[in-house]
Amino acid sequence: MRLDRYLCELNLGTRSQIKKDIKAGLVSVNDVTIVRPEEQIQTERDCVCYRGQPCIYEECVYYLLHKPAGVVSATKDRRDRTVLDLIGDKARKDIFPVGRLDKDAEGLLLITNDGAFAHDLLAPARHVEKEYECHLAYSFDIRQRQLLEQGVDIGEKKPARPAVVRVLEEKKITLTITEGKFHQVKRMLHAAGNEVTYLKRIRMGTLTLDDTLPKGAFRRLTKEEVESLKHDRSSHL
Ligand code: URA
Repeated sequence: MRLDRYLCELNLGTRSQIKKDIKAGLVSVNDVTIVRPEEQIQTERDCVCYRGQPCIYEECVYYLLHKPAGVVSATKDRRDRTVLDLIGDKARKDIFPVGRLDKDAEGLLLITNDGAFAHDLLAPARHVEKEYECHLAYSFDIRQRQLLEQGVDIGEKKPARPAVVRVLEEKKITLTITEGKFHQVKRMLHAAGNEVTYLKRIRMGTLTLDDTLPKGAFRRLTKEEVESLKHDRSSHL
């Protein structure tokens, strides 16, 4: 990778500032000062120092964001704040959300720069479980439960795959699904004769949203959490 790009991906400054700093002799590679921004480096092998500080480069980064309502699950948006705006300057430039949560939905959202990881988690054939807390407009009843559990028709070619329902209160349930169609949970509840008034994703595969992470906050996943998601076989649906 080019030296200037490498430093830029680490979020150490704008490309033009970094180029200037390299030319000014502020960057060394394996203890040798390098003044060419286009110098190629091996990210795993070379030891790069910027202004005397060693740089630690990770190929892939993984964050768990507690998405609040009102922000969109996109990398850029002309009108609305995005989930990446919440992560802001502290993170890399090449990250993106793994799938989407609606603007008015809250909860667990993974953010990464690992395309294969995201692709794999979202692959329809993987059937990764997603669990949502749903507040409902009307009392939840046995008929609605049966429809959701047997696979409700949401107007696609095939009915939705069977879901798992946990009733929490008269108008509050959790729904676990293994698909990720547009507005899927809202459409399933609507098709079953109810309406979602509040939606929060509380789990994806083996990863649960911890209560300690406030709305709008994010944290890095541990290595174990990443590995566990990569090998997730939690789905029994
Ligand atoms: N289902 C929905 O309806 N909305 C979401 O954001 C996620 C799942």
